[in-house]
Amino acid sequence: MRQNFVAGNWKMNLTLPEARALTTDIVRLLADELPGARPQLVLCPPFPLLLAVGEVLGQSGPALGAQNFHQMESGAYTGEVSAKQLHSVGCQYVILGHSERRQHFREDNALLAQKLKTALAAGLQVIFCVGESLATREADETFDFIGQQLAEGLFGLSDAEMEQVVIAYEPIWAIGTGRTASSAQAQEVHAFIRQQVAAAYDAGIAANTTILYGGSCNAQNARELFSQPDVDGGLIGGASLKARDFVDISKSF
Ligand code: 13P
Repeated sequence: MRQNFVAGNWKMNLTLPEARALTTDIVRLLADELPGARPQLVLCPPFPLLLAVGEVLGQSGPALGAQNFHQMESGAYTGEVSAKQLHSVGCQYVILGHSERRQHFREDNALLAQKLKTALAAGLQVIFCVGESLATREADETFDFIGQQLAEGLFGLSDAEMEQVVIAYEPIWAIGTGRTASSAQAQEVHAFIRQQVAAAYDAGIAANTTILYGGSCNAQNARELFSQPDVDGGLIGGASLKARDFVDISKSF
């Protein structure tokens, strides 16, 4: 279902007390300032904090998401975490294909396609990230590159599976750099992604797909970005670690 959507990717930040405090602040601000209809909100803490954050969230609205999982269902994979385990501790969502995992952990499109199936089979919805480097953009290869990420990583799914996926466009050059894509740059790529979904599936599925922007999105620029016709919300890194900023972004529709 296409909906306004804001997800916070906490990355490898916060201790347990800090995570409890941040979640408590977010829940309180949301109750005060966004008591009615809200965008779909998701918090994605690191693994050891999931249960505690889930407890603070309770039934308050924001859903719980994780940042990674292993492609196998279970077994002798010391140190790894399964999608089923994430589901069992209350996760509804998981992030997949983040550029930091593609870059630092060598996750390629083929592996992502495999992980995608594992996550969906475990009952998780997936926030599937794509995005180009600065070199790719400067070489004018952004559309080819993202088209390939989608075709090889995502489009092996059935129609029904595709409905469980949110796509996030995160230009690598905008992540953690303070350099946001302009709203026109974001819109151009979001429209392209929606066209690709329409070509691989159909116009109805494309019109129903939620597409988020991520990369230095903050309380100052969110409204302008979210006002673009194909931008349905944001995947927020740094600014999701501050309750005031995360809630202000959630109010930017
Ligand atoms: P920043 O918002 O810190 O740029 O991070 C974006 C991101 O990578 C979210 O997944």
